[in-house]
Amino acid sequence: MKFVIRGGKKLSGTAPVLGAKNSVLKAMVSSLLFSGPITVTNAPFIEDVFRMSELLANLKVNIKNKGKRTLEIDSSKLWGANLKKELAEKLRASIVLAGPLLARVGKASFPHPGGCVIGKRPIDVFLDGWRAMGARVDEKKGGFSVAAKRLRGADVIFRVASVTGTETLMMTAVLAYGKTILRNAACEPEIPALADFLNAGGAKIKGAGTPTIEIVGTGGRLLKSSRPFRVIPDRIEAGSFLILGASLGKNVKVVNCNPNHLSALITSLKDAGVNLEVGPDWISVKRPKILKAVDIKTHEYPGFPTDLQAPFAVLMTQASGESMIFETIFEGRMGYVDDLKRMGAKIVLCDPHRILINGPAPLRGREIESPDLRAGLAFVIAALLAKGESVINNVYQIDRGYEKIDERLRKLGADIERVD
Ligand code: EPU
Repeated sequence: MKFVIRGGKKLSGTAPVLGAKNSVLKAMVSSLLFSGPITVTNAPFIEDVFRMSELLANLKVNIKNKGKRTLEIDSSKLWGANLKKELAEKLRASIVLAGPLLARVGKASFPHPGGCVIGKRPIDVFLDGWRAMGARVDEKKGGFSVAAKRLRGADVIFRVASVTGTETLMMTAVLAYGKTILRNAACEPEIPALADFLNAGGAKIKGAGTPTIEIVGTGGRLLKSSRPFRVIPDRIEAGSFLILGASLGKNVKVVNCNPNHLSALITSLKDAGVNLEVGPDWISVKRPKILKAVDIKTHEYPGFPTDLQAPFAVLMTQASGESMIFETIFEGRMGYVDDLKRMGAKIVLCDPHRILINGPAPLRGREIESPDLRAGLAFVIAALLAKGESVINNVYQIDRGYEKIDERLRKLGADIERVD
């Protein structure tokens, strides 16, 4: 599957933001902590959600699509403790499932989680956290197994403020015996959204959204769902639309978003001279006559999100002056640079974490491969800006996190086609 894009068209219209990939996946997994079915609303239909559904179905978790973006997920017939290798390897978030599985059935085994080129990152935070809670961790050929007769609360300090590490250990601790404290926890908005839902079902979590989270475990008692989990708006999708609007927008209105979750990006866009108007759940954006170069440094929330680093770099290829992009969260997230250079961007790779971009540089259409979903979307933006035709291969990576992005971009006036 590939996208064929003819660039240069101005974009205008309304861009509705769907539910967040990195919220819905955790909502689905949380079903294992409940005795009966849970309801998840505002679910995006993206490939990662399909993979997670398959992983859950393999454990005899029943998932019903009730229509109108509503899923009903019932783990009452949960069976087994092994995550299917071929599925788990396709999805970094598969490791999140191991936490509630361990908490509920006392064991879990799983392969090293994957996803894409950056998906194969370390998992020491998870393993150390489980060990601190009394679990035995065995590394075997091709994967890991964790087991605990009785999980006990623990005082855990994260070496790095891992988002999925925080969510996984928070969910593990919900059913444990005693109190768990997670220190240097991640603060991304998806974490309090998950904690609020679990608390409504009887969990006792305090401090989610801050670096110190306290969880008093139920001692094995499962939660009871009392309200649906409404998936929060995808701040990365919203941010990608804003960057697109700043690149090519006559007038693009991004709706169904939460501007409070986008403060760092909004500040950087304003610094770049982009015209923005911010409402309670919408932001409208226009490309300015002259875009100014600005520096960004990615940071844990509420700093500039790493998932918007590549799209922002594409915008900076069109800005006047020199901008420095500093990626502090991930190794290997500058893999898109060579392809952007082939398209005509003027970029110097200073070291694996820093690039200097000189602009404005006209971009030309090229054939490119999507290395991961965020770089893939950055290439879509670059191709929409470029003169001539581009082909973007490996669209699966983009479909992992953005639902039918081609159709939605066409509605804004983009010339993009999906070809088998
Ligand atoms: N890290 C470790 N050891 C660990 C865990 C993480 O060294 O055990 C390192 C990673 O290698 C990385 C840093 O810590 O350098 C931060 O990684 P983190 O664990 O926070 O990332 P994550 O939880 O695996 C989530 C999102 C990512 C997003 C990051 C950062 C999900 C499913 N994924 O990943 O989303 O980039 O937080 O905000 O929630 C994406 O959606 O494209 C994506 C990659």
